[in-house]
Amino acid sequence: MLARDALVALLLLTGFQTLYAVENLPVRVVKERKPCSGGCGRRGHCNYEEGRCECPWGYIGPSCEVDRMAVCRQTPDDPGSCGFIMPKNCECYRECFRLYCRYGTDTNKCANQMWGADAFDASCWLYGSEDRGPATDRPQDSSLYPKNPEQETVWFGRIPEMIGGTNYSGEELKLEDPGRRYKSPWDRPWLVWHRADNIAKPLSMCNNTCANGRGFCIQRPGSLEPECSCHFGFKGPDCSEEDPTTCWFSPTCSGRGQCRSGFCHCHDGSWGWGCHRSVAYHPATPGAVPDVRSKARLKIYIYELPWEIAFPFEVQEEIHSRDNIYTGYEQFMRYFLMDDSVRTENPYEANLFYVPALAYFYAENVRNSQWQIKAVIDHIRQQWPFYNRSGGRDHFVFMPGDRASCHSDRWLQDEIIKVVHFGMQKKNLTWLGIENKDYGCIQTKRDLVVPSRSVNTGPLLPNTTTSYYQAMERHERSIPSATSPT
Ligand SMILES: *[C@@H]1O[C@H](CO)[C@@H](O)[C@H](O)[C@H]1NC(C)=O
Ligand SMILES: *[C@@H]1O[C@H](CO)[C@@H](O)[C@H](O)[C@H]1NC(C)=O
Ligand SMILES: *[C@@H]1O[C@H](CO)[C@@H](O)[C@H](O)[C@H]1NC(C)=O
Ligand SMILES: *[C@@H]1O[C@H](CO)[C@@H](O)[C@H](O)[C@H]1NC(C)=O
Ligand SMILES: *[C@@H]1O[C@H](CO)[C@@H](O)[C@H](O)[C@H]1NC(C)=O
Repeated sequence: MLARDALVALLLLTGFQTLYAVENLPVRVVKERKPCSGGCGRRGHCNYEEGRCECPWGYIGPSCEVDRMAVCRQTPDDPGSCGFIMPKNCECYRECFRLYCRYGTDTNKCANQMWGADAFDASCWLYGSEDRGPATDRPQDSSLYPKNPEQETVWFGRIPEMIGGTNYSGEELKLEDPGRRYKSPWDRPWLVWHRADNIAKPLSMCNNTCANGRGFCIQRPGSLEPECSCHFGFKGPDCSEEDPTTCWFSPTCSGRGQCRSGFCHCHDGSWGWGCHRSVAYHPATPGAVPDVRSKARLKIYIYELPWEIAFPFEVQEEIHSRDNIYTGYEQFMRYFLMDDSVRTENPYEANLFYVPALAYFYAENVRNSQWQIKAVIDHIRQQWPFYNRSGGRDHFVFMPGDRASCHSDRWLQDEIIKVVHFGMQKKNLTWLGIENKDYGCIQTKRDLVVPSRSVNTGPLLPNTTTSYYQAMERHERSIPSATSPT
C-alpha cells in the first residue's frame, strides 16, 4: 500500500506536469539489446540496456572475472565484507576505503559516514611477524585469519588513509592497546555501547569451517567453544543454508533467478535487482533523447546501479545495515518492482525516475547520507541524459535517516525530490544548526514525508500526525500552523 499511496502523493504534490516538454514529433525509440561479453553469465548476468555485466558484490570486469575485493574474503566462497566484527587484513580496509569513501578522508565525507566512522579506530593486521614486520614474500591478498596469529600477523591501529597517509610507516598507525589484538575491531573498550568483546578464531576451529567461509569463526565471552557467525545471505549453525530473504526487494528474484547474499543472479535475458527487467529501449537516432512522455499516464523508471555505486549488501557483519524501523524504502521497492502499470523499462517515456541510492546502507540512521546520494547522482548524470534534462526535478530518492535532508547541502535540497521520514519546513529555523534559512529541510509541495516502516507493525501514523493531516484537509491543503520540532 505504501508504494501506491506514495506514488499518488508524488503525483499530486510534485506538480510534475510542469516539467513536460511539448510532446515530440513521432516517437523514435526502438527496442534494442546491447550484448555483454561472453562468460558474463557465470557469475553475473547481462544488463542488455547498458551492455554491462551486473556482478555480485566484489566482482568487476566485462564478465565479472576480476575479484576486486578478494582481500576481504577468507575463501572464494566467502561473500566478503568490509565489516568490523571479524578482524581483517588491513589491505581489505584500504580497498573498502576506496569503495565507501569515494570523496576522500574529509571528516564529513568519510569519517562521519557509517563505514568511515567505524574504520577510524579499526585495528587490522598484515601477514608477517612482529619481529620481521609485514611479510614482503607473501601477498596480502586475503582475510583468512591464520592458524597462528601470534606468529603470523602484525597489527595496526588503523589504515594509513585514516591519517592521510599511503603506507604503514606512520607512528600513529601503531596499535597502542595490545589487548585489542585478535579481537573485533568494532570493540571499543572505552565505550560501553560499542562492545564486541569476542575473540577471533581461525576458520578451522569452527564446525565445517562455517561452510568454507560463508561465516566467520568467533568465540563469544562466556562461551566454551567458538561458533560461526554467518554473513548476509547465509544461516544455520555452520552457515550452510542460503537465506533468500536477503534479497528483500524480491526474495524470489521474480522467479527468474536465484538469490545469493543480497544479489539476484538472473537467468540470461533478465536483469536488474529483482530480475524485473527484460526489455531495453534506445533512441532510433543514436545520441538523441526522444521525449515520448505521456501526460495522461504516470510512468516511473528505476535506475540499475552497479555494486560499487549502491548495492544492498552487508556493510557491517551481524548487523547487515538494516533496521526494522527504517524499512519504508524496502517496502516501496518490493511493491514498485511488482507494479507493472507504473514502472516502465523505457526511460524515454518516464515522468519520474527513481534513484535507489540505498542511503541507509551507507549512512544509517543518524548520519548525513548526502555523500552517498551525490555519488549516485554523479553516476546517473554520466550514464543517462535524464537528470541533466530536468536538473533532477523529476527524480526522487529516499533519505531515510533520522534527520533526513536537514543537513544536506543546498544544491541537493533544491534539485531532487526527497522522500523522507522527517519533514520539517520553516523559514529561519535555528534548530540544530540547519543552514537552509529559506525552507529548512523539505518543501511540502515537492518533497514527500512517508512512514518509516511497515503498516503491519502498528498504526500507519501516530495519532497526532493523523490529526495534523486531517486539519490540513479541512484547510484545503494549506498548513494550519507552521511545523516545528515540538
Ligand atoms: C610513507 O608515507 C610517509 C608519509 O605518510 C612518507 O613521508 C614516506 O616517504 C612514505 N614512505 C614510502 C616508502 O613510500
Ligand atoms: C559442532 O558440532 C558438534 C558435533 O555435531 C556439536 O556437538 C557442537 O555443538 C557444534 N558446535 C557448535 C558451536 O555449533
Ligand atoms: C550532465 O552534466 C554534467 C555536469 O555538467 C556532465 O559532467 C555530464 O557529462 C552531463 N551528462 C551527460 C549525459 O551529458
Ligand atoms: C528571517 O531572518 C531574516 C534575517 O534575520 C529576517 O529579515 C526575516 O524577516 C526572517 N523571516 C522570518 C519569516 O522570520
Ligand atoms: C489512536 O487512535 C486510535 C484509533 O482512533 C485509538 O484506538 C487509539 O487509542 C489512539 N491512541 C492514542 C495513544 O491516543
